[in-house]
Amino acid sequence: SSGLNKLAKTAGKLYLGTATDNNELTDAAYTAILDDNSQFGQITPANSMKWDATEPTRGTFTFSGGDQIANLAKTNGMLLRGHNCVWYNQLPSWVANGQFTAADLTTVIQTHCSTLVSHYKGQVYDKKTLGTSSTVSEPFNDDGTWRSDVFYNTLGTSYVPIALKAARAADPNAKLYINDYNIEQTGAKATAMLNLVKQLIADGVPIDGVGFQCHFIVGEVPGSFQTVLEQFTALGLEVAITELDIRTTTPASQSALAQQEKDYQSVIQACMNVKGCVGATLWDFTDKYSWVPSTFSGQGAACPWDQNLVKKPAYTGIVNAL
Ligand code: XIL
Repeated sequence: SSGLNKLAKTAGKLYLGTATDNNELTDAAYTAILDDNSQFGQITPANSMKWDATEPTRGTFTFSGGDQIANLAKTNGMLLRGHNCVWYNQLPSWVANGQFTAADLTTVIQTHCSTLVSHYKGQVYDKKTLGTSSTVSEPFNDDGTWRSDVFYNTLGTSYVPIALKAARAADPNAKLYINDYNIEQTGAKATAMLNLVKQLIADGVPIDGVGFQCHFIVGEVPGSFQTVLEQFTALGLEVAITELDIRTTTPASQSALAQQEKDYQSVIQACMNVKGCVGATLWDFTDKYSWVPSTFSGQGAACPWDQNLVKKPAYTGIVNAL
């Protein structure tokens, strides 16, 4: 068959992938699609490698959920993207409390990144260059200023190199990414990310790529997306679409679903047009398990497969771009 991943690889990309979550893996109708690696050649754990899941109390690491996803990737011959090492959200209170000195928080970040990344060392992919890990997530506010979280408030911008260096030391072959949203259009936030990665490169800090989450709204895909991708690849970095979904008001109208088809096509087309864009990850492939309705009230229908695991026009949009 000619699933999305197969088409993407034929067109020169590394993968077309999807997020998945542990509680979804008992749904046989769902896994029948997930496990088809002509459809998906890459998976990202939606939750089970986050800090609250992997180090809920200091020094106690739990990898069972993450391992289940990593093993699934291996079984299915799929690439695995790690997600994530340092993020202000889904952070256990023992870190979020902010009671650490700068020196102590440095050790806490180093221990977390290093233990997490070394646990999955070599498991991410069996090929030398292909391990990927979103090391730092969402450092900026939408206006391009630094997010006031425990990391920035305690360490300033230095937490980013601290995390990246610890991850690189733990697995020299893993690709290290910074991942954010609302950096998909030219403007203050994309400029802030560009300036950050330029500084990291100038300082010799390990950084391989930037992840564009792409949590979009139907009819509002930014026209400058491809331009922004090119601004980052011009620095020698790779880029990836890491969390694609395109939401609308529910129940979705026929015209919204038709616009969504065009929107999926244009987002994937931007990646196809940029050589350094390695691939795209759906933030789950079906509306049945999308995070959108529980986060954005009154919105949903954001994925290429519907609630009943039936392909929507959006699926055709992706195929048309590949
Ligand atoms: C979401 C998960 O999909 C949900 O299950 C969870 O409740 C909240 O987090 N940006 C990110 C992802 O980087 O980690 C988020 O995932 C979606 C927004």
